[in-house]
Formats: sequence, C-alpha cells, structure tokens
Amino acid sequence: MTTVSMTVNGKAVTAEVEDRTLLVDFIREHLRLTGTHVGCDTSQCGACVVHVDGKAMKSCTMLAAQADGAAVTTIEGVANGDLHPMQKAFNDNHGLQCGFCTPGMVMSGIDMVNRYKAEGKTLDEAAIRHELEGNICRCTGYHNIVKSISQAAGEM
Ligand code: FES
Ligand code: FES
Repeated sequence: MTTVSMTVNGKAVTAEVEDRTLLVDFIREHLRLTGTHVGCDTSQCGACVVHVDGKAMKSCTMLAAQADGAAVTTIEGVANGDLHPMQKAFNDNHGLQCGFCTPGMVMSGIDMVNRYKAEGKTLDEAAIRHELEGNICRCTGYHNIVKSISQAAGEM
C-alpha cells in the first residue's frame, strides 16, 4: 500500500491505495468522479484523458502514485459556473453522440488549444485532426468534434 496526496479539481485529497492502482481507477473508484471513462485500458482510446499539472495525460497509463503531489483536473473540474467554452462548443456543434469519448475529447481539446496558444501556433483543421490521433470516437466520424475544437479555439 502507498499513500497518495494530490489536488483534484482544486480539492486536496489523500488516500491509501494499492501500489498498482492506476490514476484512472483512483479517480473513478476512490473519488467517485466517473466522468473520466475507461474505453480500452491499453492506452489507445483517450477516453481517460485528464490534466496532470496542466497537461493532458491518459490516466490509464500512469499510477496514482506517479501523480502524488500533482494538480489533477478531470472533466468534472473544467466548468466554472457555466460550461467551459470547449464543452459549449461540443454542444453547439453536435460534437457528440453517445458521449462515451466526450470527456477525453474535451480534455484533449482544451490541452491542444492551450498548447498552441502558448506556442503562438495556429490550430487549424489539419492540426486538430493530427492532435486527435490519440482519441477514438466510434460514433461521430470526427467532423463535428473537429468543428467543436475549432470553435472553442477561437473563444478560449
Ligand atoms: S482507457 Fe486510457 S486510453 Fe483507453
Ligand atoms: S460520441 Fe460515442 S464514442 Fe464518441
């Protein structure tokens, strides 16, 4: 067993977990924040993306212990009263159907917009499609997801 402490969506949390506990399981099973999904468990689908110290991470690929001391944000933490511009853009552009992939898409979308802005680069459609290679959606055909991220990039 190991003790992990981190902030999750701005709240300090400490827990005793098995050494092998994945961050995604810590988030879902210990904290009951079930908006972060598990779609594959093999690091391919991106349904589990959260932000760790401001960067998008597949939370099925890291141990909870590796996030010790970190600031973690999950989909439950991105809205601030109103929907986050990325969430609103997905709503406006019908960027989801079943919604299973959506938390990961939104978290990856926010991360890519922030990164491109910080580097002064243009996040055009080709860049969005390239950046989304780690996120799989089985419903939408991606077109509306790309439109959503493009709209949010103009508003964030
Ligand atoms: S559950 Fe993490 S990438 Fe699929
Ligand atoms: S909206 Fe169903 S998997 Fe993407």
